[in-house]
Amino acid sequence: MRILITGGNGQLAYDLQRVLADDDVRALSRQELDICNYAQATAVVRSLGPDVLINTAAFHRVDDCETQQEPAFATNALAVRHLAQLCGELNAQLVHFSTDYVFGGQKKRAPLGEDDLPAPLSVYGTSKLAGEYLAQLTWKRAVVVRTCGLYGIAGASGKGGNFVQTMLRKAREGAALRVVDDQVCTPTSTKDLAQAVARLIRQDAAGLIHITNAGSCTWYEFAKAIFAATGIDAALSPATSQEYITPAIRPPYSVLARERLAELGQDDLRPWQEALSDYLEEASSAY
Ligand SMILES: NC(=O)c1ccc[n+]([C@@H]2O[C@H](COP(=O)([O-])OP(=O)(O)OC[C@H]3O[C@@H](n4cnc5c(N)ncnc54)[C@H](OP(=O)(O)O)[C@@H]3O)[C@@H](O)[C@H]2O)c1
Repeated sequence: MRILITGGNGQLAYDLQRVLADDDVRALSRQELDICNYAQATAVVRSLGPDVLINTAAFHRVDDCETQQEPAFATNALAVRHLAQLCGELNAQLVHFSTDYVFGGQKKRAPLGEDDLPAPLSVYGTSKLAGEYLAQLTWKRAVVVRTCGLYGIAGASGKGGNFVQTMLRKAREGAALRVVDDQVCTPTSTKDLAQAVARLIRQDAAGLIHITNAGSCTWYEFAKAIFAATGIDAALSPATSQEYITPAIRPPYSVLARERLAELGQDDLRPWQEALSDYLEEASSAY
């Protein structure tokens, strides 16, 4: 199968390439395929003629999206429509990624399924929700994968490092770390996500699908687990969202239920603690 990945320098793209190595995979950087440059994107996608186009590109510096709404919507929504149109033209499957940040404003405090109504609290979440809708209304062979709290070996290039890397770096610098203990979600390994996505591609799945590791925790609990697993004696303490004001409001609760994944017989992702240990082991040489 010919598979084209956008956002090729990112952490999810890195693990997708590893997992899909037996296929004919091309992962292109932003310079090689800028999804907001329609002329370039059209020429590149048409010339490569993929069977599957996986769009990992995003504008996901969440706080910057509050003041930079135009690039946020251009990247996270309008460019996704253009990619979906190109996939329609080529009859290629489109795999697109969205986020738990489409939730947060809802009252429900139990895992949120694909049928729960979105309630974003930020420009980022709203732009990603628009991208979900545009992908699905434009092309019937679109899979929209909502995921959460990604960390992977390649680091989050668009954000200057993932949460695990940031925690370890700051602890080693001797910084006092205050981490929010009132935002609940499911940190997810890009390696595990990539494996699940590879299976969905083989199944030619379509529609909206939640994929995360199993279980849930607060960011403080996640940080605690990182330091426990690495044996680092960090100066870590819990904070509330009220004490840690950011331009974009984060979801207080955004645990995703993996109902569609279960229907597809694919809900076998590990608990987040196991995925974290695996990641730390693999990354240990890099830190
Ligand atoms: N990271 C998370 O915690 C998280 C959580 C939920 C959902 N997601 C979603 O998961 C997907 C993958 O995230 P990730 O963590 O792998 O991100 P990442 O490591 O930051 O990778 C994203 C890549 O997209 C590239 N990019 C940005 N704008 C582009 C454009 N206009 N054209 C082409 N490439 C562009 C970036 O390039 P530069 O390096 O040049 O900026 C970056 O290499 C995204 O859709 C994101 O919204 C992420």
